[in-house]
Amino acid sequence: MLADKILDLKKEKDVVILAHNYQLPEVQDVADFVGDSLGLSRQAAKTPHKTILFCGVHFMAETAAIICPDKKVLIPDLAAGCSLSDSINLEQLKSWKREHPGAIAVGYVNTTAEIKSELDYCCTSSNAVNVVKAIPEDREVLFLPDMFLGSYVAKVTGRKNMYIWAGECHVHAGIRSEEIHKKLDAYANSELLVHPECSCTSQIMYDVAVGDYKNRQVQIMSTEGMMNYAKQSGAKNFVVATETGILYRMQQQNPEKSFVPASNNAVCQYMKMITLDKVYNSLLEEKYEVRVPKPIADKARLAINRMLAIS
Ligand code: 13P
Ligand code: SF4
Repeated sequence: MLADKILDLKKEKDVVILAHNYQLPEVQDVADFVGDSLGLSRQAAKTPHKTILFCGVHFMAETAAIICPDKKVLIPDLAAGCSLSDSINLEQLKSWKREHPGAIAVGYVNTTAEIKSELDYCCTSSNAVNVVKAIPEDREVLFLPDMFLGSYVAKVTGRKNMYIWAGECHVHAGIRSEEIHKKLDAYANSELLVHPECSCTSQIMYDVAVGDYKNRQVQIMSTEGMMNYAKQSGAKNFVVATETGILYRMQQQNPEKSFVPASNNAVCQYMKMITLDKVYNSLLEEKYEVRVPKPIADKARLAINRMLAIS
């Protein structure tokens, strides 16, 4: 079986396989660790293995290459990109910074290494609020590139001097509150788990703040936050507003509970480019290596290390 061959090869070549929560089930099954962006960066930082095979999208593998300059980092398909990370380029960021001299630039981990090299702080969905809270009140903040995560953070922190880049992830932007309402109507007593990249996050927060979201418990959190919450919650049914790949692991870890996607169309085609065949070929031929030029990596590492220091 292909999965067995992968497991043998991984041992023989001293490789650790890291997989994001949105990966195909069969890819998650051969991974040493499955998790969110922050958790996987942490695993990369402490792995004793000489090669990291990253089953996720390109910016995630780049982040691992920046954190671990002495390791070989492989991605099974170089075309596995991210619409959110494509929503800002280096020139745009530089000119935005010029318009706000003295501002602190905070960028989501879903950005290229070049963009990270121009950031003061990097963050993920699980620590974005704490990263912004750590910045002195009197400093302006430039938050990029996700506008929905940005407005969520601005609301939670109450920050007024925060400017938000108008980028989005096409998968999460496509999850509409009408779809969520329909699912909640269909699944009585279900709790709602929402990723802050969703376009409906602000509306949901408003509805919760005014006291009612169809009488449901609502949690807005990163993919790993959702995993942890689902495990400890007393509820039996959950509507999950994020990429559908997460349902596999949720269901596996909580067989007595039931999980439905807020939208069946919330599928990231980039994440799904990583197939078991490609994982095998990647291990066998040690391709495709992700390298970040040293001057960019050295600058980007500062922002990433600040992210890793704040949880
Ligand atoms: P997490 O950091 O919550 O894993 O999200 C990463 C991502 O790409 C969301 O689309
Ligand atoms: Fe990027 Fe969206 Fe895919 Fe996450 S789900 S990797 S943000 S395109």
